[in-house]
Amino acid sequence: MSEGAGIERLIRSDLVTFGGYSARKSPETLEGKVEVPVESIIKLDANENPYGCSPRVNQALANYPYLNIYPDDGQTGLRKLIEGYAGVDARHIVAGSGSNQLIDLVLRLLISHGDEVINCVPTFGLFRFSTELCGGTLVEVPRDENFAVVVSAVKAAISKKTKIIFLVNPNNPTGTIIPRQDILEILDTGLPVLVDEAYYEFSGQTVAPLVGQYDNLMVLRTFSKWAGLAGLRIGYGLFPPKIADYLLRIKIPYNVNVAALVAVQESLKDIDYLMGTTKAIIAERERLFGELEKIEWLKPFPSQANFIFCSVLNGKASQLQQKLQDKGILVRYFDTPLLENSVRISVGKPEHTDALIKALREVIY
Ligand SMILES: Cc1ncc(COP(=O)(O)O)c(C=O)c1O
Repeated sequence: MSEGAGIERLIRSDLVTFGGYSARKSPETLEGKVEVPVESIIKLDANENPYGCSPRVNQALANYPYLNIYPDDGQTGLRKLIEGYAGVDARHIVAGSGSNQLIDLVLRLLISHGDEVINCVPTFGLFRFSTELCGGTLVEVPRDENFAVVVSAVKAAISKKTKIIFLVNPNNPTGTIIPRQDILEILDTGLPVLVDEAYYEFSGQTVAPLVGQYDNLMVLRTFSKWAGLAGLRIGYGLFPPKIADYLLRIKIPYNVNVAALVAVQESLKDIDYLMGTTKAIIAERERLFGELEKIEWLKPFPSQANFIFCSVLNGKASQLQQKLQDKGILVRYFDTPLLENSVRISVGKPEHTDALIKALREVIY
């Protein structure tokens, strides 16, 4: 097969112009391009945990002797461990290489070409990515001016082709919560509803206990944020048992690696430590919000997650992001019709907040 212009003939026609997902770059790629050494970069652009994982995870991984053996494909031990943490029976649980993988699997299970997916925008970009990759059609339902989901608009968007409704609670990138009553009203449509609770531990709000009562409710969670395991890629979903069985059938073999399994085991033995760092992040979120409010040209939105979304009222968000990056502080910026001139700042340690606020005061606007 010769490479070159003709290669597009072989690629699925709807993927030839597919834009991909704009994932964050790692700090090493900024070597020499910022005013500080790479090790001093303050990374507030991907909602990672500034405290890292439990020290027990590092110790256990350093000594783990069975990296040569495949993990249990049926995830039996892992699902049992998650059952203890999530309080939902193991037959509802499927783990993935990050909760991202479960979004992809659910869509692969439900979506055929032309099926519709309802998405309450602005929201997490992966729903668009995975829907389009599966050949589905995204039906975007705008949130209101405070980024609240508009239930009547969600219902009005339902058609015969609707296969699933996505809700993110709290929402990324806005940090907004969906009231429980609204979720129940959407569940009452009878359509499959996936509630992504990636930031549950920072909000304390969940519909996980309802998974046994509704045969159309799916809940996604992750160990990336509260447990500081983003780099190991481990998340899980709570599903009606029949859906869980299908997902286990269609997933690639051994989708969760043994390092992630060991990390979950150790994290769940160290819940007090991890809840301590989670509480520190929540407290810092409130302090950061107060500090951002004092900056006249920023409008922060209240958040129940581990990040704060801000409208930039003066100047360009893209330039602000670049100026902060030059100083070694990474934040995420948006400038789309749905997310005009805005930044999302992950909550760091107190010293990260101090450095950020100092830098924000120094940039000229
Ligand atoms: C709403 C939402 N869901 C899922 C994820 C991805 O989580 P994971 O690392 O488990 O794939 C993120 C990550 O930023 C997110 O914001």
